[in-house]
Amino acid sequence: MAKAQKVSAAEWVPHTRDLNVLRSAAPSCRGCELYARATQVVFGEGPRSANVVMVGEQPGDEEDRRGHPFVGPAGRLLSKAMEEAGVDREKVYVTNAVKHFKWIERGKRRIHAKPSGIEVSACRPWLEAELASIEPELVVCLGATAAQSLMGREFRITTDRGRFFPHPWAKEVMATIHPSAILRVPERYEEEYALLVRDLKLVAERMH
Ligand code: URA
Ligand code: SF4
Repeated sequence: MAKAQKVSAAEWVPHTRDLNVLRSAAPSCRGCELYARATQVVFGEGPRSANVVMVGEQPGDEEDRRGHPFVGPAGRLLSKAMEEAGVDREKVYVTNAVKHFKWIERGKRRIHAKPSGIEVSACRPWLEAELASIEPELVVCLGATAAQSLMGREFRITTDRGRFFPHPWAKEVMATIHPSAILRVPERYEEEYALLVRDLKLVAERMH
């Protein structure tokens, strides 16, 4: 009898808490179809001893080409906001809810496409394994995709941002706006950026 193929990274995720072993296994993942059109997997980066893990949505165009998380425009804005809030990026492990870049073609450009709920669930075993290795005090979700991956589909950034919730994968989880969302609305840049810094100051307080 034909069995429906489950869309999940689970069978590609090694049963280990060794981040290096996880990282080495990630390029082989075929847990969903996103690997096929991406340049490479973009795994999380940062110290294994990090007390804080930040989770974005998925690598962007520049991350996909370079193979590192948050190194493009959103990453630069995040670094700036972290510095202003007093959060040392060097001490934070940064990763994404989905590890391959999903995009659509627009002329010669590759435009970000939102990962589906199925793709986010498929990739969750990698995130769970990263968090099991690091055992952070705090996970900061950047945007709704990360927040819903960790806190469920009902989670709303608008009402619940800046609040701390208990979680089985970390002591606490909180969510804030995604830096890309700030870049998409230039007319509200100043106020949205200020709110991101405000939320990240709460993170800095937890770290000190
Ligand atoms: N946006 C994300 O969510 N993650 C990245 O790594 C880059 C941009
Ligand atoms: Fe595997 Fe995640 Fe890439 Fe899908 S997006 S192939 S689940 S690593």
